Amino acid sequence: MIQVDPALSDEEFLRLFEKGIGAQWSSDQIDWGLVQGLSPTQKDALGQVITPVFLGEQTAMLGVSAVLPMILTSGYPEAALYLASMGLDEARHFRNLSRLYRTLEVEPLPSRRLPEMWRYHARLLQKHDPVQWVFGILISDLFAKTFYGGFAERFPDTVVGRLSHRTLQDEARHQAFSDRYLNRMLPTMEPRARVQLLVLRDDLFRIMEKLGERLRGPMETLDWSPEAFLEELWNDTEKWVKRLGLVEAPEVFSP
Ligand SMILES: [Fe+2]
Ligand SMILES: [Fe+2]
Repeated sequence: MIQVDPALSDEEFLRLFEKGIGAQWSSDQIDWGLVQGLSPTQKDALGQVITPVFLGEQTAMLGVSAVLPMILTSGYPEAALYLASMGLDEARHFRNLSRLYRTLEVEPLPSRRLPEMWRYHARLLQKHDPVQWVFGILISDLFAKTFYGGFAERFPDTVVGRLSHRTLQDEARHQAFSDRYLNRMLPTMEPRARVQLLVLRDDLFRIMEKLGERLRGPMETLDWSPEAFLEELWNDTEKWVKRLGLVEAPEVFSP
């Protein structure tokens, strides 16, 4: 149940919320005219490779709006406050990518060419508890981070690189939220429920492996490989798994 006047005493989440408000920005901060450094072939490849990120930003909006009421009604109003600011971040990312497609004058891949993207979306949105939600959101934030990081590195002086660089700052805040929330909740969980988080990780990685295979052509056009992408993402995720003290399941995915 929600309370009329909760104490709002959890300083860690409150600080993060204030940071989230202070760090809001609009698309005016991006120079949308910086397209000269991109060839038509690169633009086309980018249109394809960005497709799962584009859907991912909408999935993130759905994830935040699904987990917010669970967290608010379970007595964590400070964490719920932060999530409201995170919802606005994800909405901005979604809007910006939509504008990026118009700017580059390319189209995202049609759904039938990337069915794994929908499998990923469906797996993430399966009904589960708030901890599973936040862990799934964390993996998706890392997934977005790996893509945006790769774009920022490859096309630093173009609209793609500038937008990616700016978006990465929001994603770093989202990871800080997952870190705090999961660190609070994991010690209270049964070992079996903790293993379920690793099952979710493995399911998502299996899907991403197939997704990477489908994107091999356009990724190679951008001097990128699905293997390098997955390895970076896997290593990043494993750092979190270790940091959060999650116990390994007997059978796990390994790229
Ligand atoms: Fe995002
Ligand atoms: Fe995010």
